Amino acid sequence: MKKICTAVVILLALLCGVEVSGKSNVNYDETKVPDYVLPELLTCKDGTKVTTVQEWEQHRRPEIMEFFSKSVYGETPNGEIKVKYKVVAKNKKALGGKATMQQVMFTFTAGGKKQKALALVYFPNSRPKSGAPVFIGYNFKGNHSTSEDPKILYSPYFKTVTDESLLSRGVQSGRWPMEKIIERGYAAVTMCYHDIYPDKKRGGGAERSLIRLLPTTADEGSRWQAIGVWAYGMSRIADWVEKQPWANKEQMCVVGHSRQGKVALWAGVQDERFKVVISNDSGCGGAALSKREFGETIRSVTKTFPHWFCKNFKQYRDRESELPFDQHQLLALVAPRHLYVASATLDKWADPKGEYLSAFYASPVYKLYGMVGLESEQMPKTGKAVMNDVGYHIRKGKHNITPFDWNHYLNFCDKVFGRKGGK
Ligand code: GCU
Repeated sequence: MKKICTAVVILLALLCGVEVSGKSNVNYDETKVPDYVLPELLTCKDGTKVTTVQEWEQHRRPEIMEFFSKSVYGETPNGEIKVKYKVVAKNKKALGGKATMQQVMFTFTAGGKKQKALALVYFPNSRPKSGAPVFIGYNFKGNHSTSEDPKILYSPYFKTVTDESLLSRGVQSGRWPMEKIIERGYAAVTMCYHDIYPDKKRGGGAERSLIRLLPTTADEGSRWQAIGVWAYGMSRIADWVEKQPWANKEQMCVVGHSRQGKVALWAGVQDERFKVVISNDSGCGGAALSKREFGETIRSVTKTFPHWFCKNFKQYRDRESELPFDQHQLLALVAPRHLYVASATLDKWADPKGEYLSAFYASPVYKLYGMVGLESEQMPKTGKAVMNDVGYHIRKGKHNITPFDWNHYLNFCDKVFGRKGGK
């Protein structure tokens, strides 16, 4: 009897267009997207219309910034953590002699506490005098997951890992196609995000994260959490990169996939040294518009990952229609620097259309700057990129960051930086 009841419930759910997979009430049906009104990008809270860059920068931008700090990601504390850097391994003839590889240990200290994180760095041996442009981004599974090279040291977080399978090498090498990046004349710096804040489902990890080192005076609801801390980590990597003779510090790009795409956006918004900000399949709480309630929702992301966003964000669970801001406004904060958003056709959970529309609705701010964002409300064809001052593509396939995506990021950055080969 119980089995028959379950079958009936599942059948009914399917007929109603509701996804059944442990993730209940997920809407994947475009016709069920609620009628929503996006909060105005260029109207201040007091009703003043923004028509100039100055008004945007002095009034509206800070208002939007304040909302995302106090109600979404949490406030980044002002204090400083001391960081020491030590090159712990070096190979001047990496990747067939085309690159130098360095492994740099970051030691963070504050208030008698210490934390270590390891950066894996590749820079091209042949590069202009001004230095190479640099991609900065986290990896999910340790530096050793980005390549088969046995010389790559395990990220400090993995010292605590007992599951042997997590120590196998190169399992996510497609996500960091270093050879291609180097051949195109770029450098790359990656670090395991667990080194900065160990991530777990349903919370946890704070006790071994950088959060311990930087006390906050923010109210409970707006305290920073993991996304804020990871974004802070991106900026600390940028501090180091800026000082390297091989790096062009005017050409630093922050890139992230999925949860790290959310991080790349928040890091890019706060730290203007990032000249290109790349969000790959970042979904809910990243590029996707929350008010579409398509795929992952605020309820779902804040329930499964209660330690990612600040506590205030939870008040919008099932209240997306009341949300006074939306993610297109976050994307607009990147202007006048360059923004690239990418999606994948099968990644419905991240709402590809919502990611596109968000970048489209951010575009009026680019126009204020005399730049060109996305001009059409229609998404481009699968595999066909739009590359204005804002870029976008949707790739065929699953939730992932692939060499196909990287090709587009390289082309976009070539264009932004006026490099030969830029399309
Ligand atoms: C989950 C989560 C997403 C996140 C993704 C990832 O699917 O719900 O919000 O982007 O993990 O980081 O892989």
